[in-house]
Amino acid sequence: MHLTRTEKAALVCGGSFWSTAAIERAGVPSIMITDGPHGLRKQSEGGDHLGLGESVPSTCFPPAAGIASSFNTSLLERVGRALGLEARAENVAVLLGPGVNIKRSPLCGRNFEYFSEDPHVSGELGAAWVRGIQSQGAGASLKHFAANNQETNRMTVSAEIDERTLREIYLPAFETIVKREQPWTVMCSYNRINGVYAAESRWLLTDLLREEWGFEGLVISDWGAVDDRAAALRAGMDLEMPGPQATSEAAILALDDDEALDASVARVIHLVERANPQGEDFDVDAHHALAREAAVESIVLLRNEGAVLPLDAEKTVGVIGEFARSPRFQGAGSSQVVPTRVDSALDALTARASVEFAPGYLLGTGDAEALAAEAVELARRVETVVLFAGLPEGYESEGFDRKDLFLPADQLDLIHRVAAVNARTVVVLTNGGVVSLEGWHDSVAGIVEGWLLGQAGGAAIADVLLGHANPSGRLAETIPVRVQDNPSYLGFPGDGDIVRYGEGVFVGYRYYESAEVPVRYPFGFGLSYTRFDYSDLEVAPDGSTLSVTVTNTGDRAGADVVQVYVAALEAPVRSPERELRAFRKVWLGPAQSITVTVELDSRAFSYWDVTTHGWESGGSYEVQIARNAHEVALRATVKRESSMPARPLSLDSSVNDWLGHPVTGPIFRRAAASISGGGDGLVEGGTSVLEMVGSMPMRRLTRFPDVPVTEKQLRVLARVANNRVVVKVVRLLKPTSDR
Ligand code: GLC
Repeated sequence: MHLTRTEKAALVCGGSFWSTAAIERAGVPSIMITDGPHGLRKQSEGGDHLGLGESVPSTCFPPAAGIASSFNTSLLERVGRALGLEARAENVAVLLGPGVNIKRSPLCGRNFEYFSEDPHVSGELGAAWVRGIQSQGAGASLKHFAANNQETNRMTVSAEIDERTLREIYLPAFETIVKREQPWTVMCSYNRINGVYAAESRWLLTDLLREEWGFEGLVISDWGAVDDRAAALRAGMDLEMPGPQATSEAAILALDDDEALDASVARVIHLVERANPQGEDFDVDAHHALAREAAVESIVLLRNEGAVLPLDAEKTVGVIGEFARSPRFQGAGSSQVVPTRVDSALDALTARASVEFAPGYLLGTGDAEALAAEAVELARRVETVVLFAGLPEGYESEGFDRKDLFLPADQLDLIHRVAAVNARTVVVLTNGGVVSLEGWHDSVAGIVEGWLLGQAGGAAIADVLLGHANPSGRLAETIPVRVQDNPSYLGFPGDGDIVRYGEGVFVGYRYYESAEVPVRYPFGFGLSYTRFDYSDLEVAPDGSTLSVTVTNTGDRAGADVVQVYVAALEAPVRSPERELRAFRKVWLGPAQSITVTVELDSRAFSYWDVTTHGWESGGSYEVQIARNAHEVALRATVKRESSMPARPLSLDSSVNDWLGHPVTGPIFRRAAASISGGGDGLVEGGTSVLEMVGSMPMRRLTRFPDVPVTEKQLRVLARVANNRVVVKVVRLLKPTSDR
């Protein structure tokens, strides 16, 4: 059907806050696109992109920060499937998620909605999420592409990122998911990257996303992310949201670029055509049960002194903290859903154990001291205390960043007072972004990182506290001692509309481990009620495959996350101490063992080379099996062929290149020895002279008066060396007088 330019302009500008435009004459219906990512936020009327208005009840699964701790891709896929079913049941064609932006700083207000500080974890978990959603005939929207790592000035800030850092840290999760799962849509971010708005970056949205990565879907804008609609269309940004946008439509009609317009129209129509009809109602109870299972696997046991956990249900437990009664289970902003139901930890514990409760602190207004005193009295009376603490609403959200990592002062005070009267105090944390454990960590016996666990989190926490489930979560983000220790600290959130990613690839554990900065708990850390050992590591000589045996050496079943890191031992660039390249979650009964086999592709050994503008590798590496980013259990050295083409020797090659070359090296060393009377320098002086001039281009060396070699001689030598023609090299290096 022929479409008029007016109809085409309408199609690429959104039809309403949450839908594409319908073109009745041409038989093009509108479809609904809405949030995500960890629950369906469908607003029955009106629309806002900040989670302010009402929406239909849906299952609130654990937000990304929580479920990432599961390190369980099959779980993520199952949750994705459930989300896809719920979207279809509500006739929603595309669910806006997952968010896979890297947690550059623990202060980012939206970290609750992202998976990890590590690109591999983000890519693997995000891919599973997309696979699940799309397996049910709903589309995903991979977001926010790209480098949306802060909320401060998110609509205008320019993320200044060097090429290698972009490629190795901020793009890989998107690349993995696009190449492996072909999400129906990719959402471009609000921010600029090196001065260019993502929505208007042809390099990002066409050259990289489509031509290099092979993306076949549609690019949708974040809501209100388009500044110059014509520039965005030319860049490959297909669908501006929200709609309708009269100004943008006029800009498009004024644009003389039908090729770009037709391409975007075709992608909008393809999206509409692939949308499926409304699906069946979903099983609310089954999805709630899945939310509880996901929450259990999201819980990370950080500290368990004296095996204070699991609790003895026969003895009265003192439960303190309003969060036990009024759980905070999701983050604020566009991802906020209306849950189908909410479990509180207090109800769940009371149903299965003897419990006394004291709110301990206020989430609203009231007599704070009376509450605290009552809680301390309870702590005196009972054998064990479980104190629920965390970040209240308003401490973190989409739209703004945090200023520090501390818990509220009243809760910190309460922890101190309770721990002072009861040594068997367990703190259960509720937080989307990392919180500081300093000042009270050693005063308590147990610490459980509960993140934000979704609507079933209360029951899940009770499952773990009572030992009905064995905690298996691992940190997908480092818990630093101080926020100042974080490598982005001095460069976050930047100055005005410029934020420089000066830490480069050294993000999170890549920094802490490389700079040997102590942390409170490292990336990948998590305890269990049992223990796992690793043995029999076998690695192929080139590291392409490995196997390792995991054994549950404890007396109860549990799950472990085998983490495989690679350390580059001789890369030509400064590389992180180690980088996670694979992980496998395994479930084992007491005394049971399993042999895990992992394949590592060439990318696992590669860095991004800014001279070849490609992935390069070669040399020696160490493959490491680790409990976390700091604790390596087994290791093996491997070697890989260099991917770099041998660079021919030239006058621009360095002195070191010439000395290191098999043909010219011996010649120059002999010459250096004869000239400097047995030393190793080219001019008077000892061996240190060579190190001093080692990085000098050979051409420049000939400019020095006492150096007995000419450019002409060097060109002859280079030809010999590059052609590896073995000739008897006679007197090529004449004394200065003969030049
Ligand atoms: C918001 C968010 C984005 C969300 C969209 C629609 O501003 O950045 O993640 O999907 O707008 O609510």
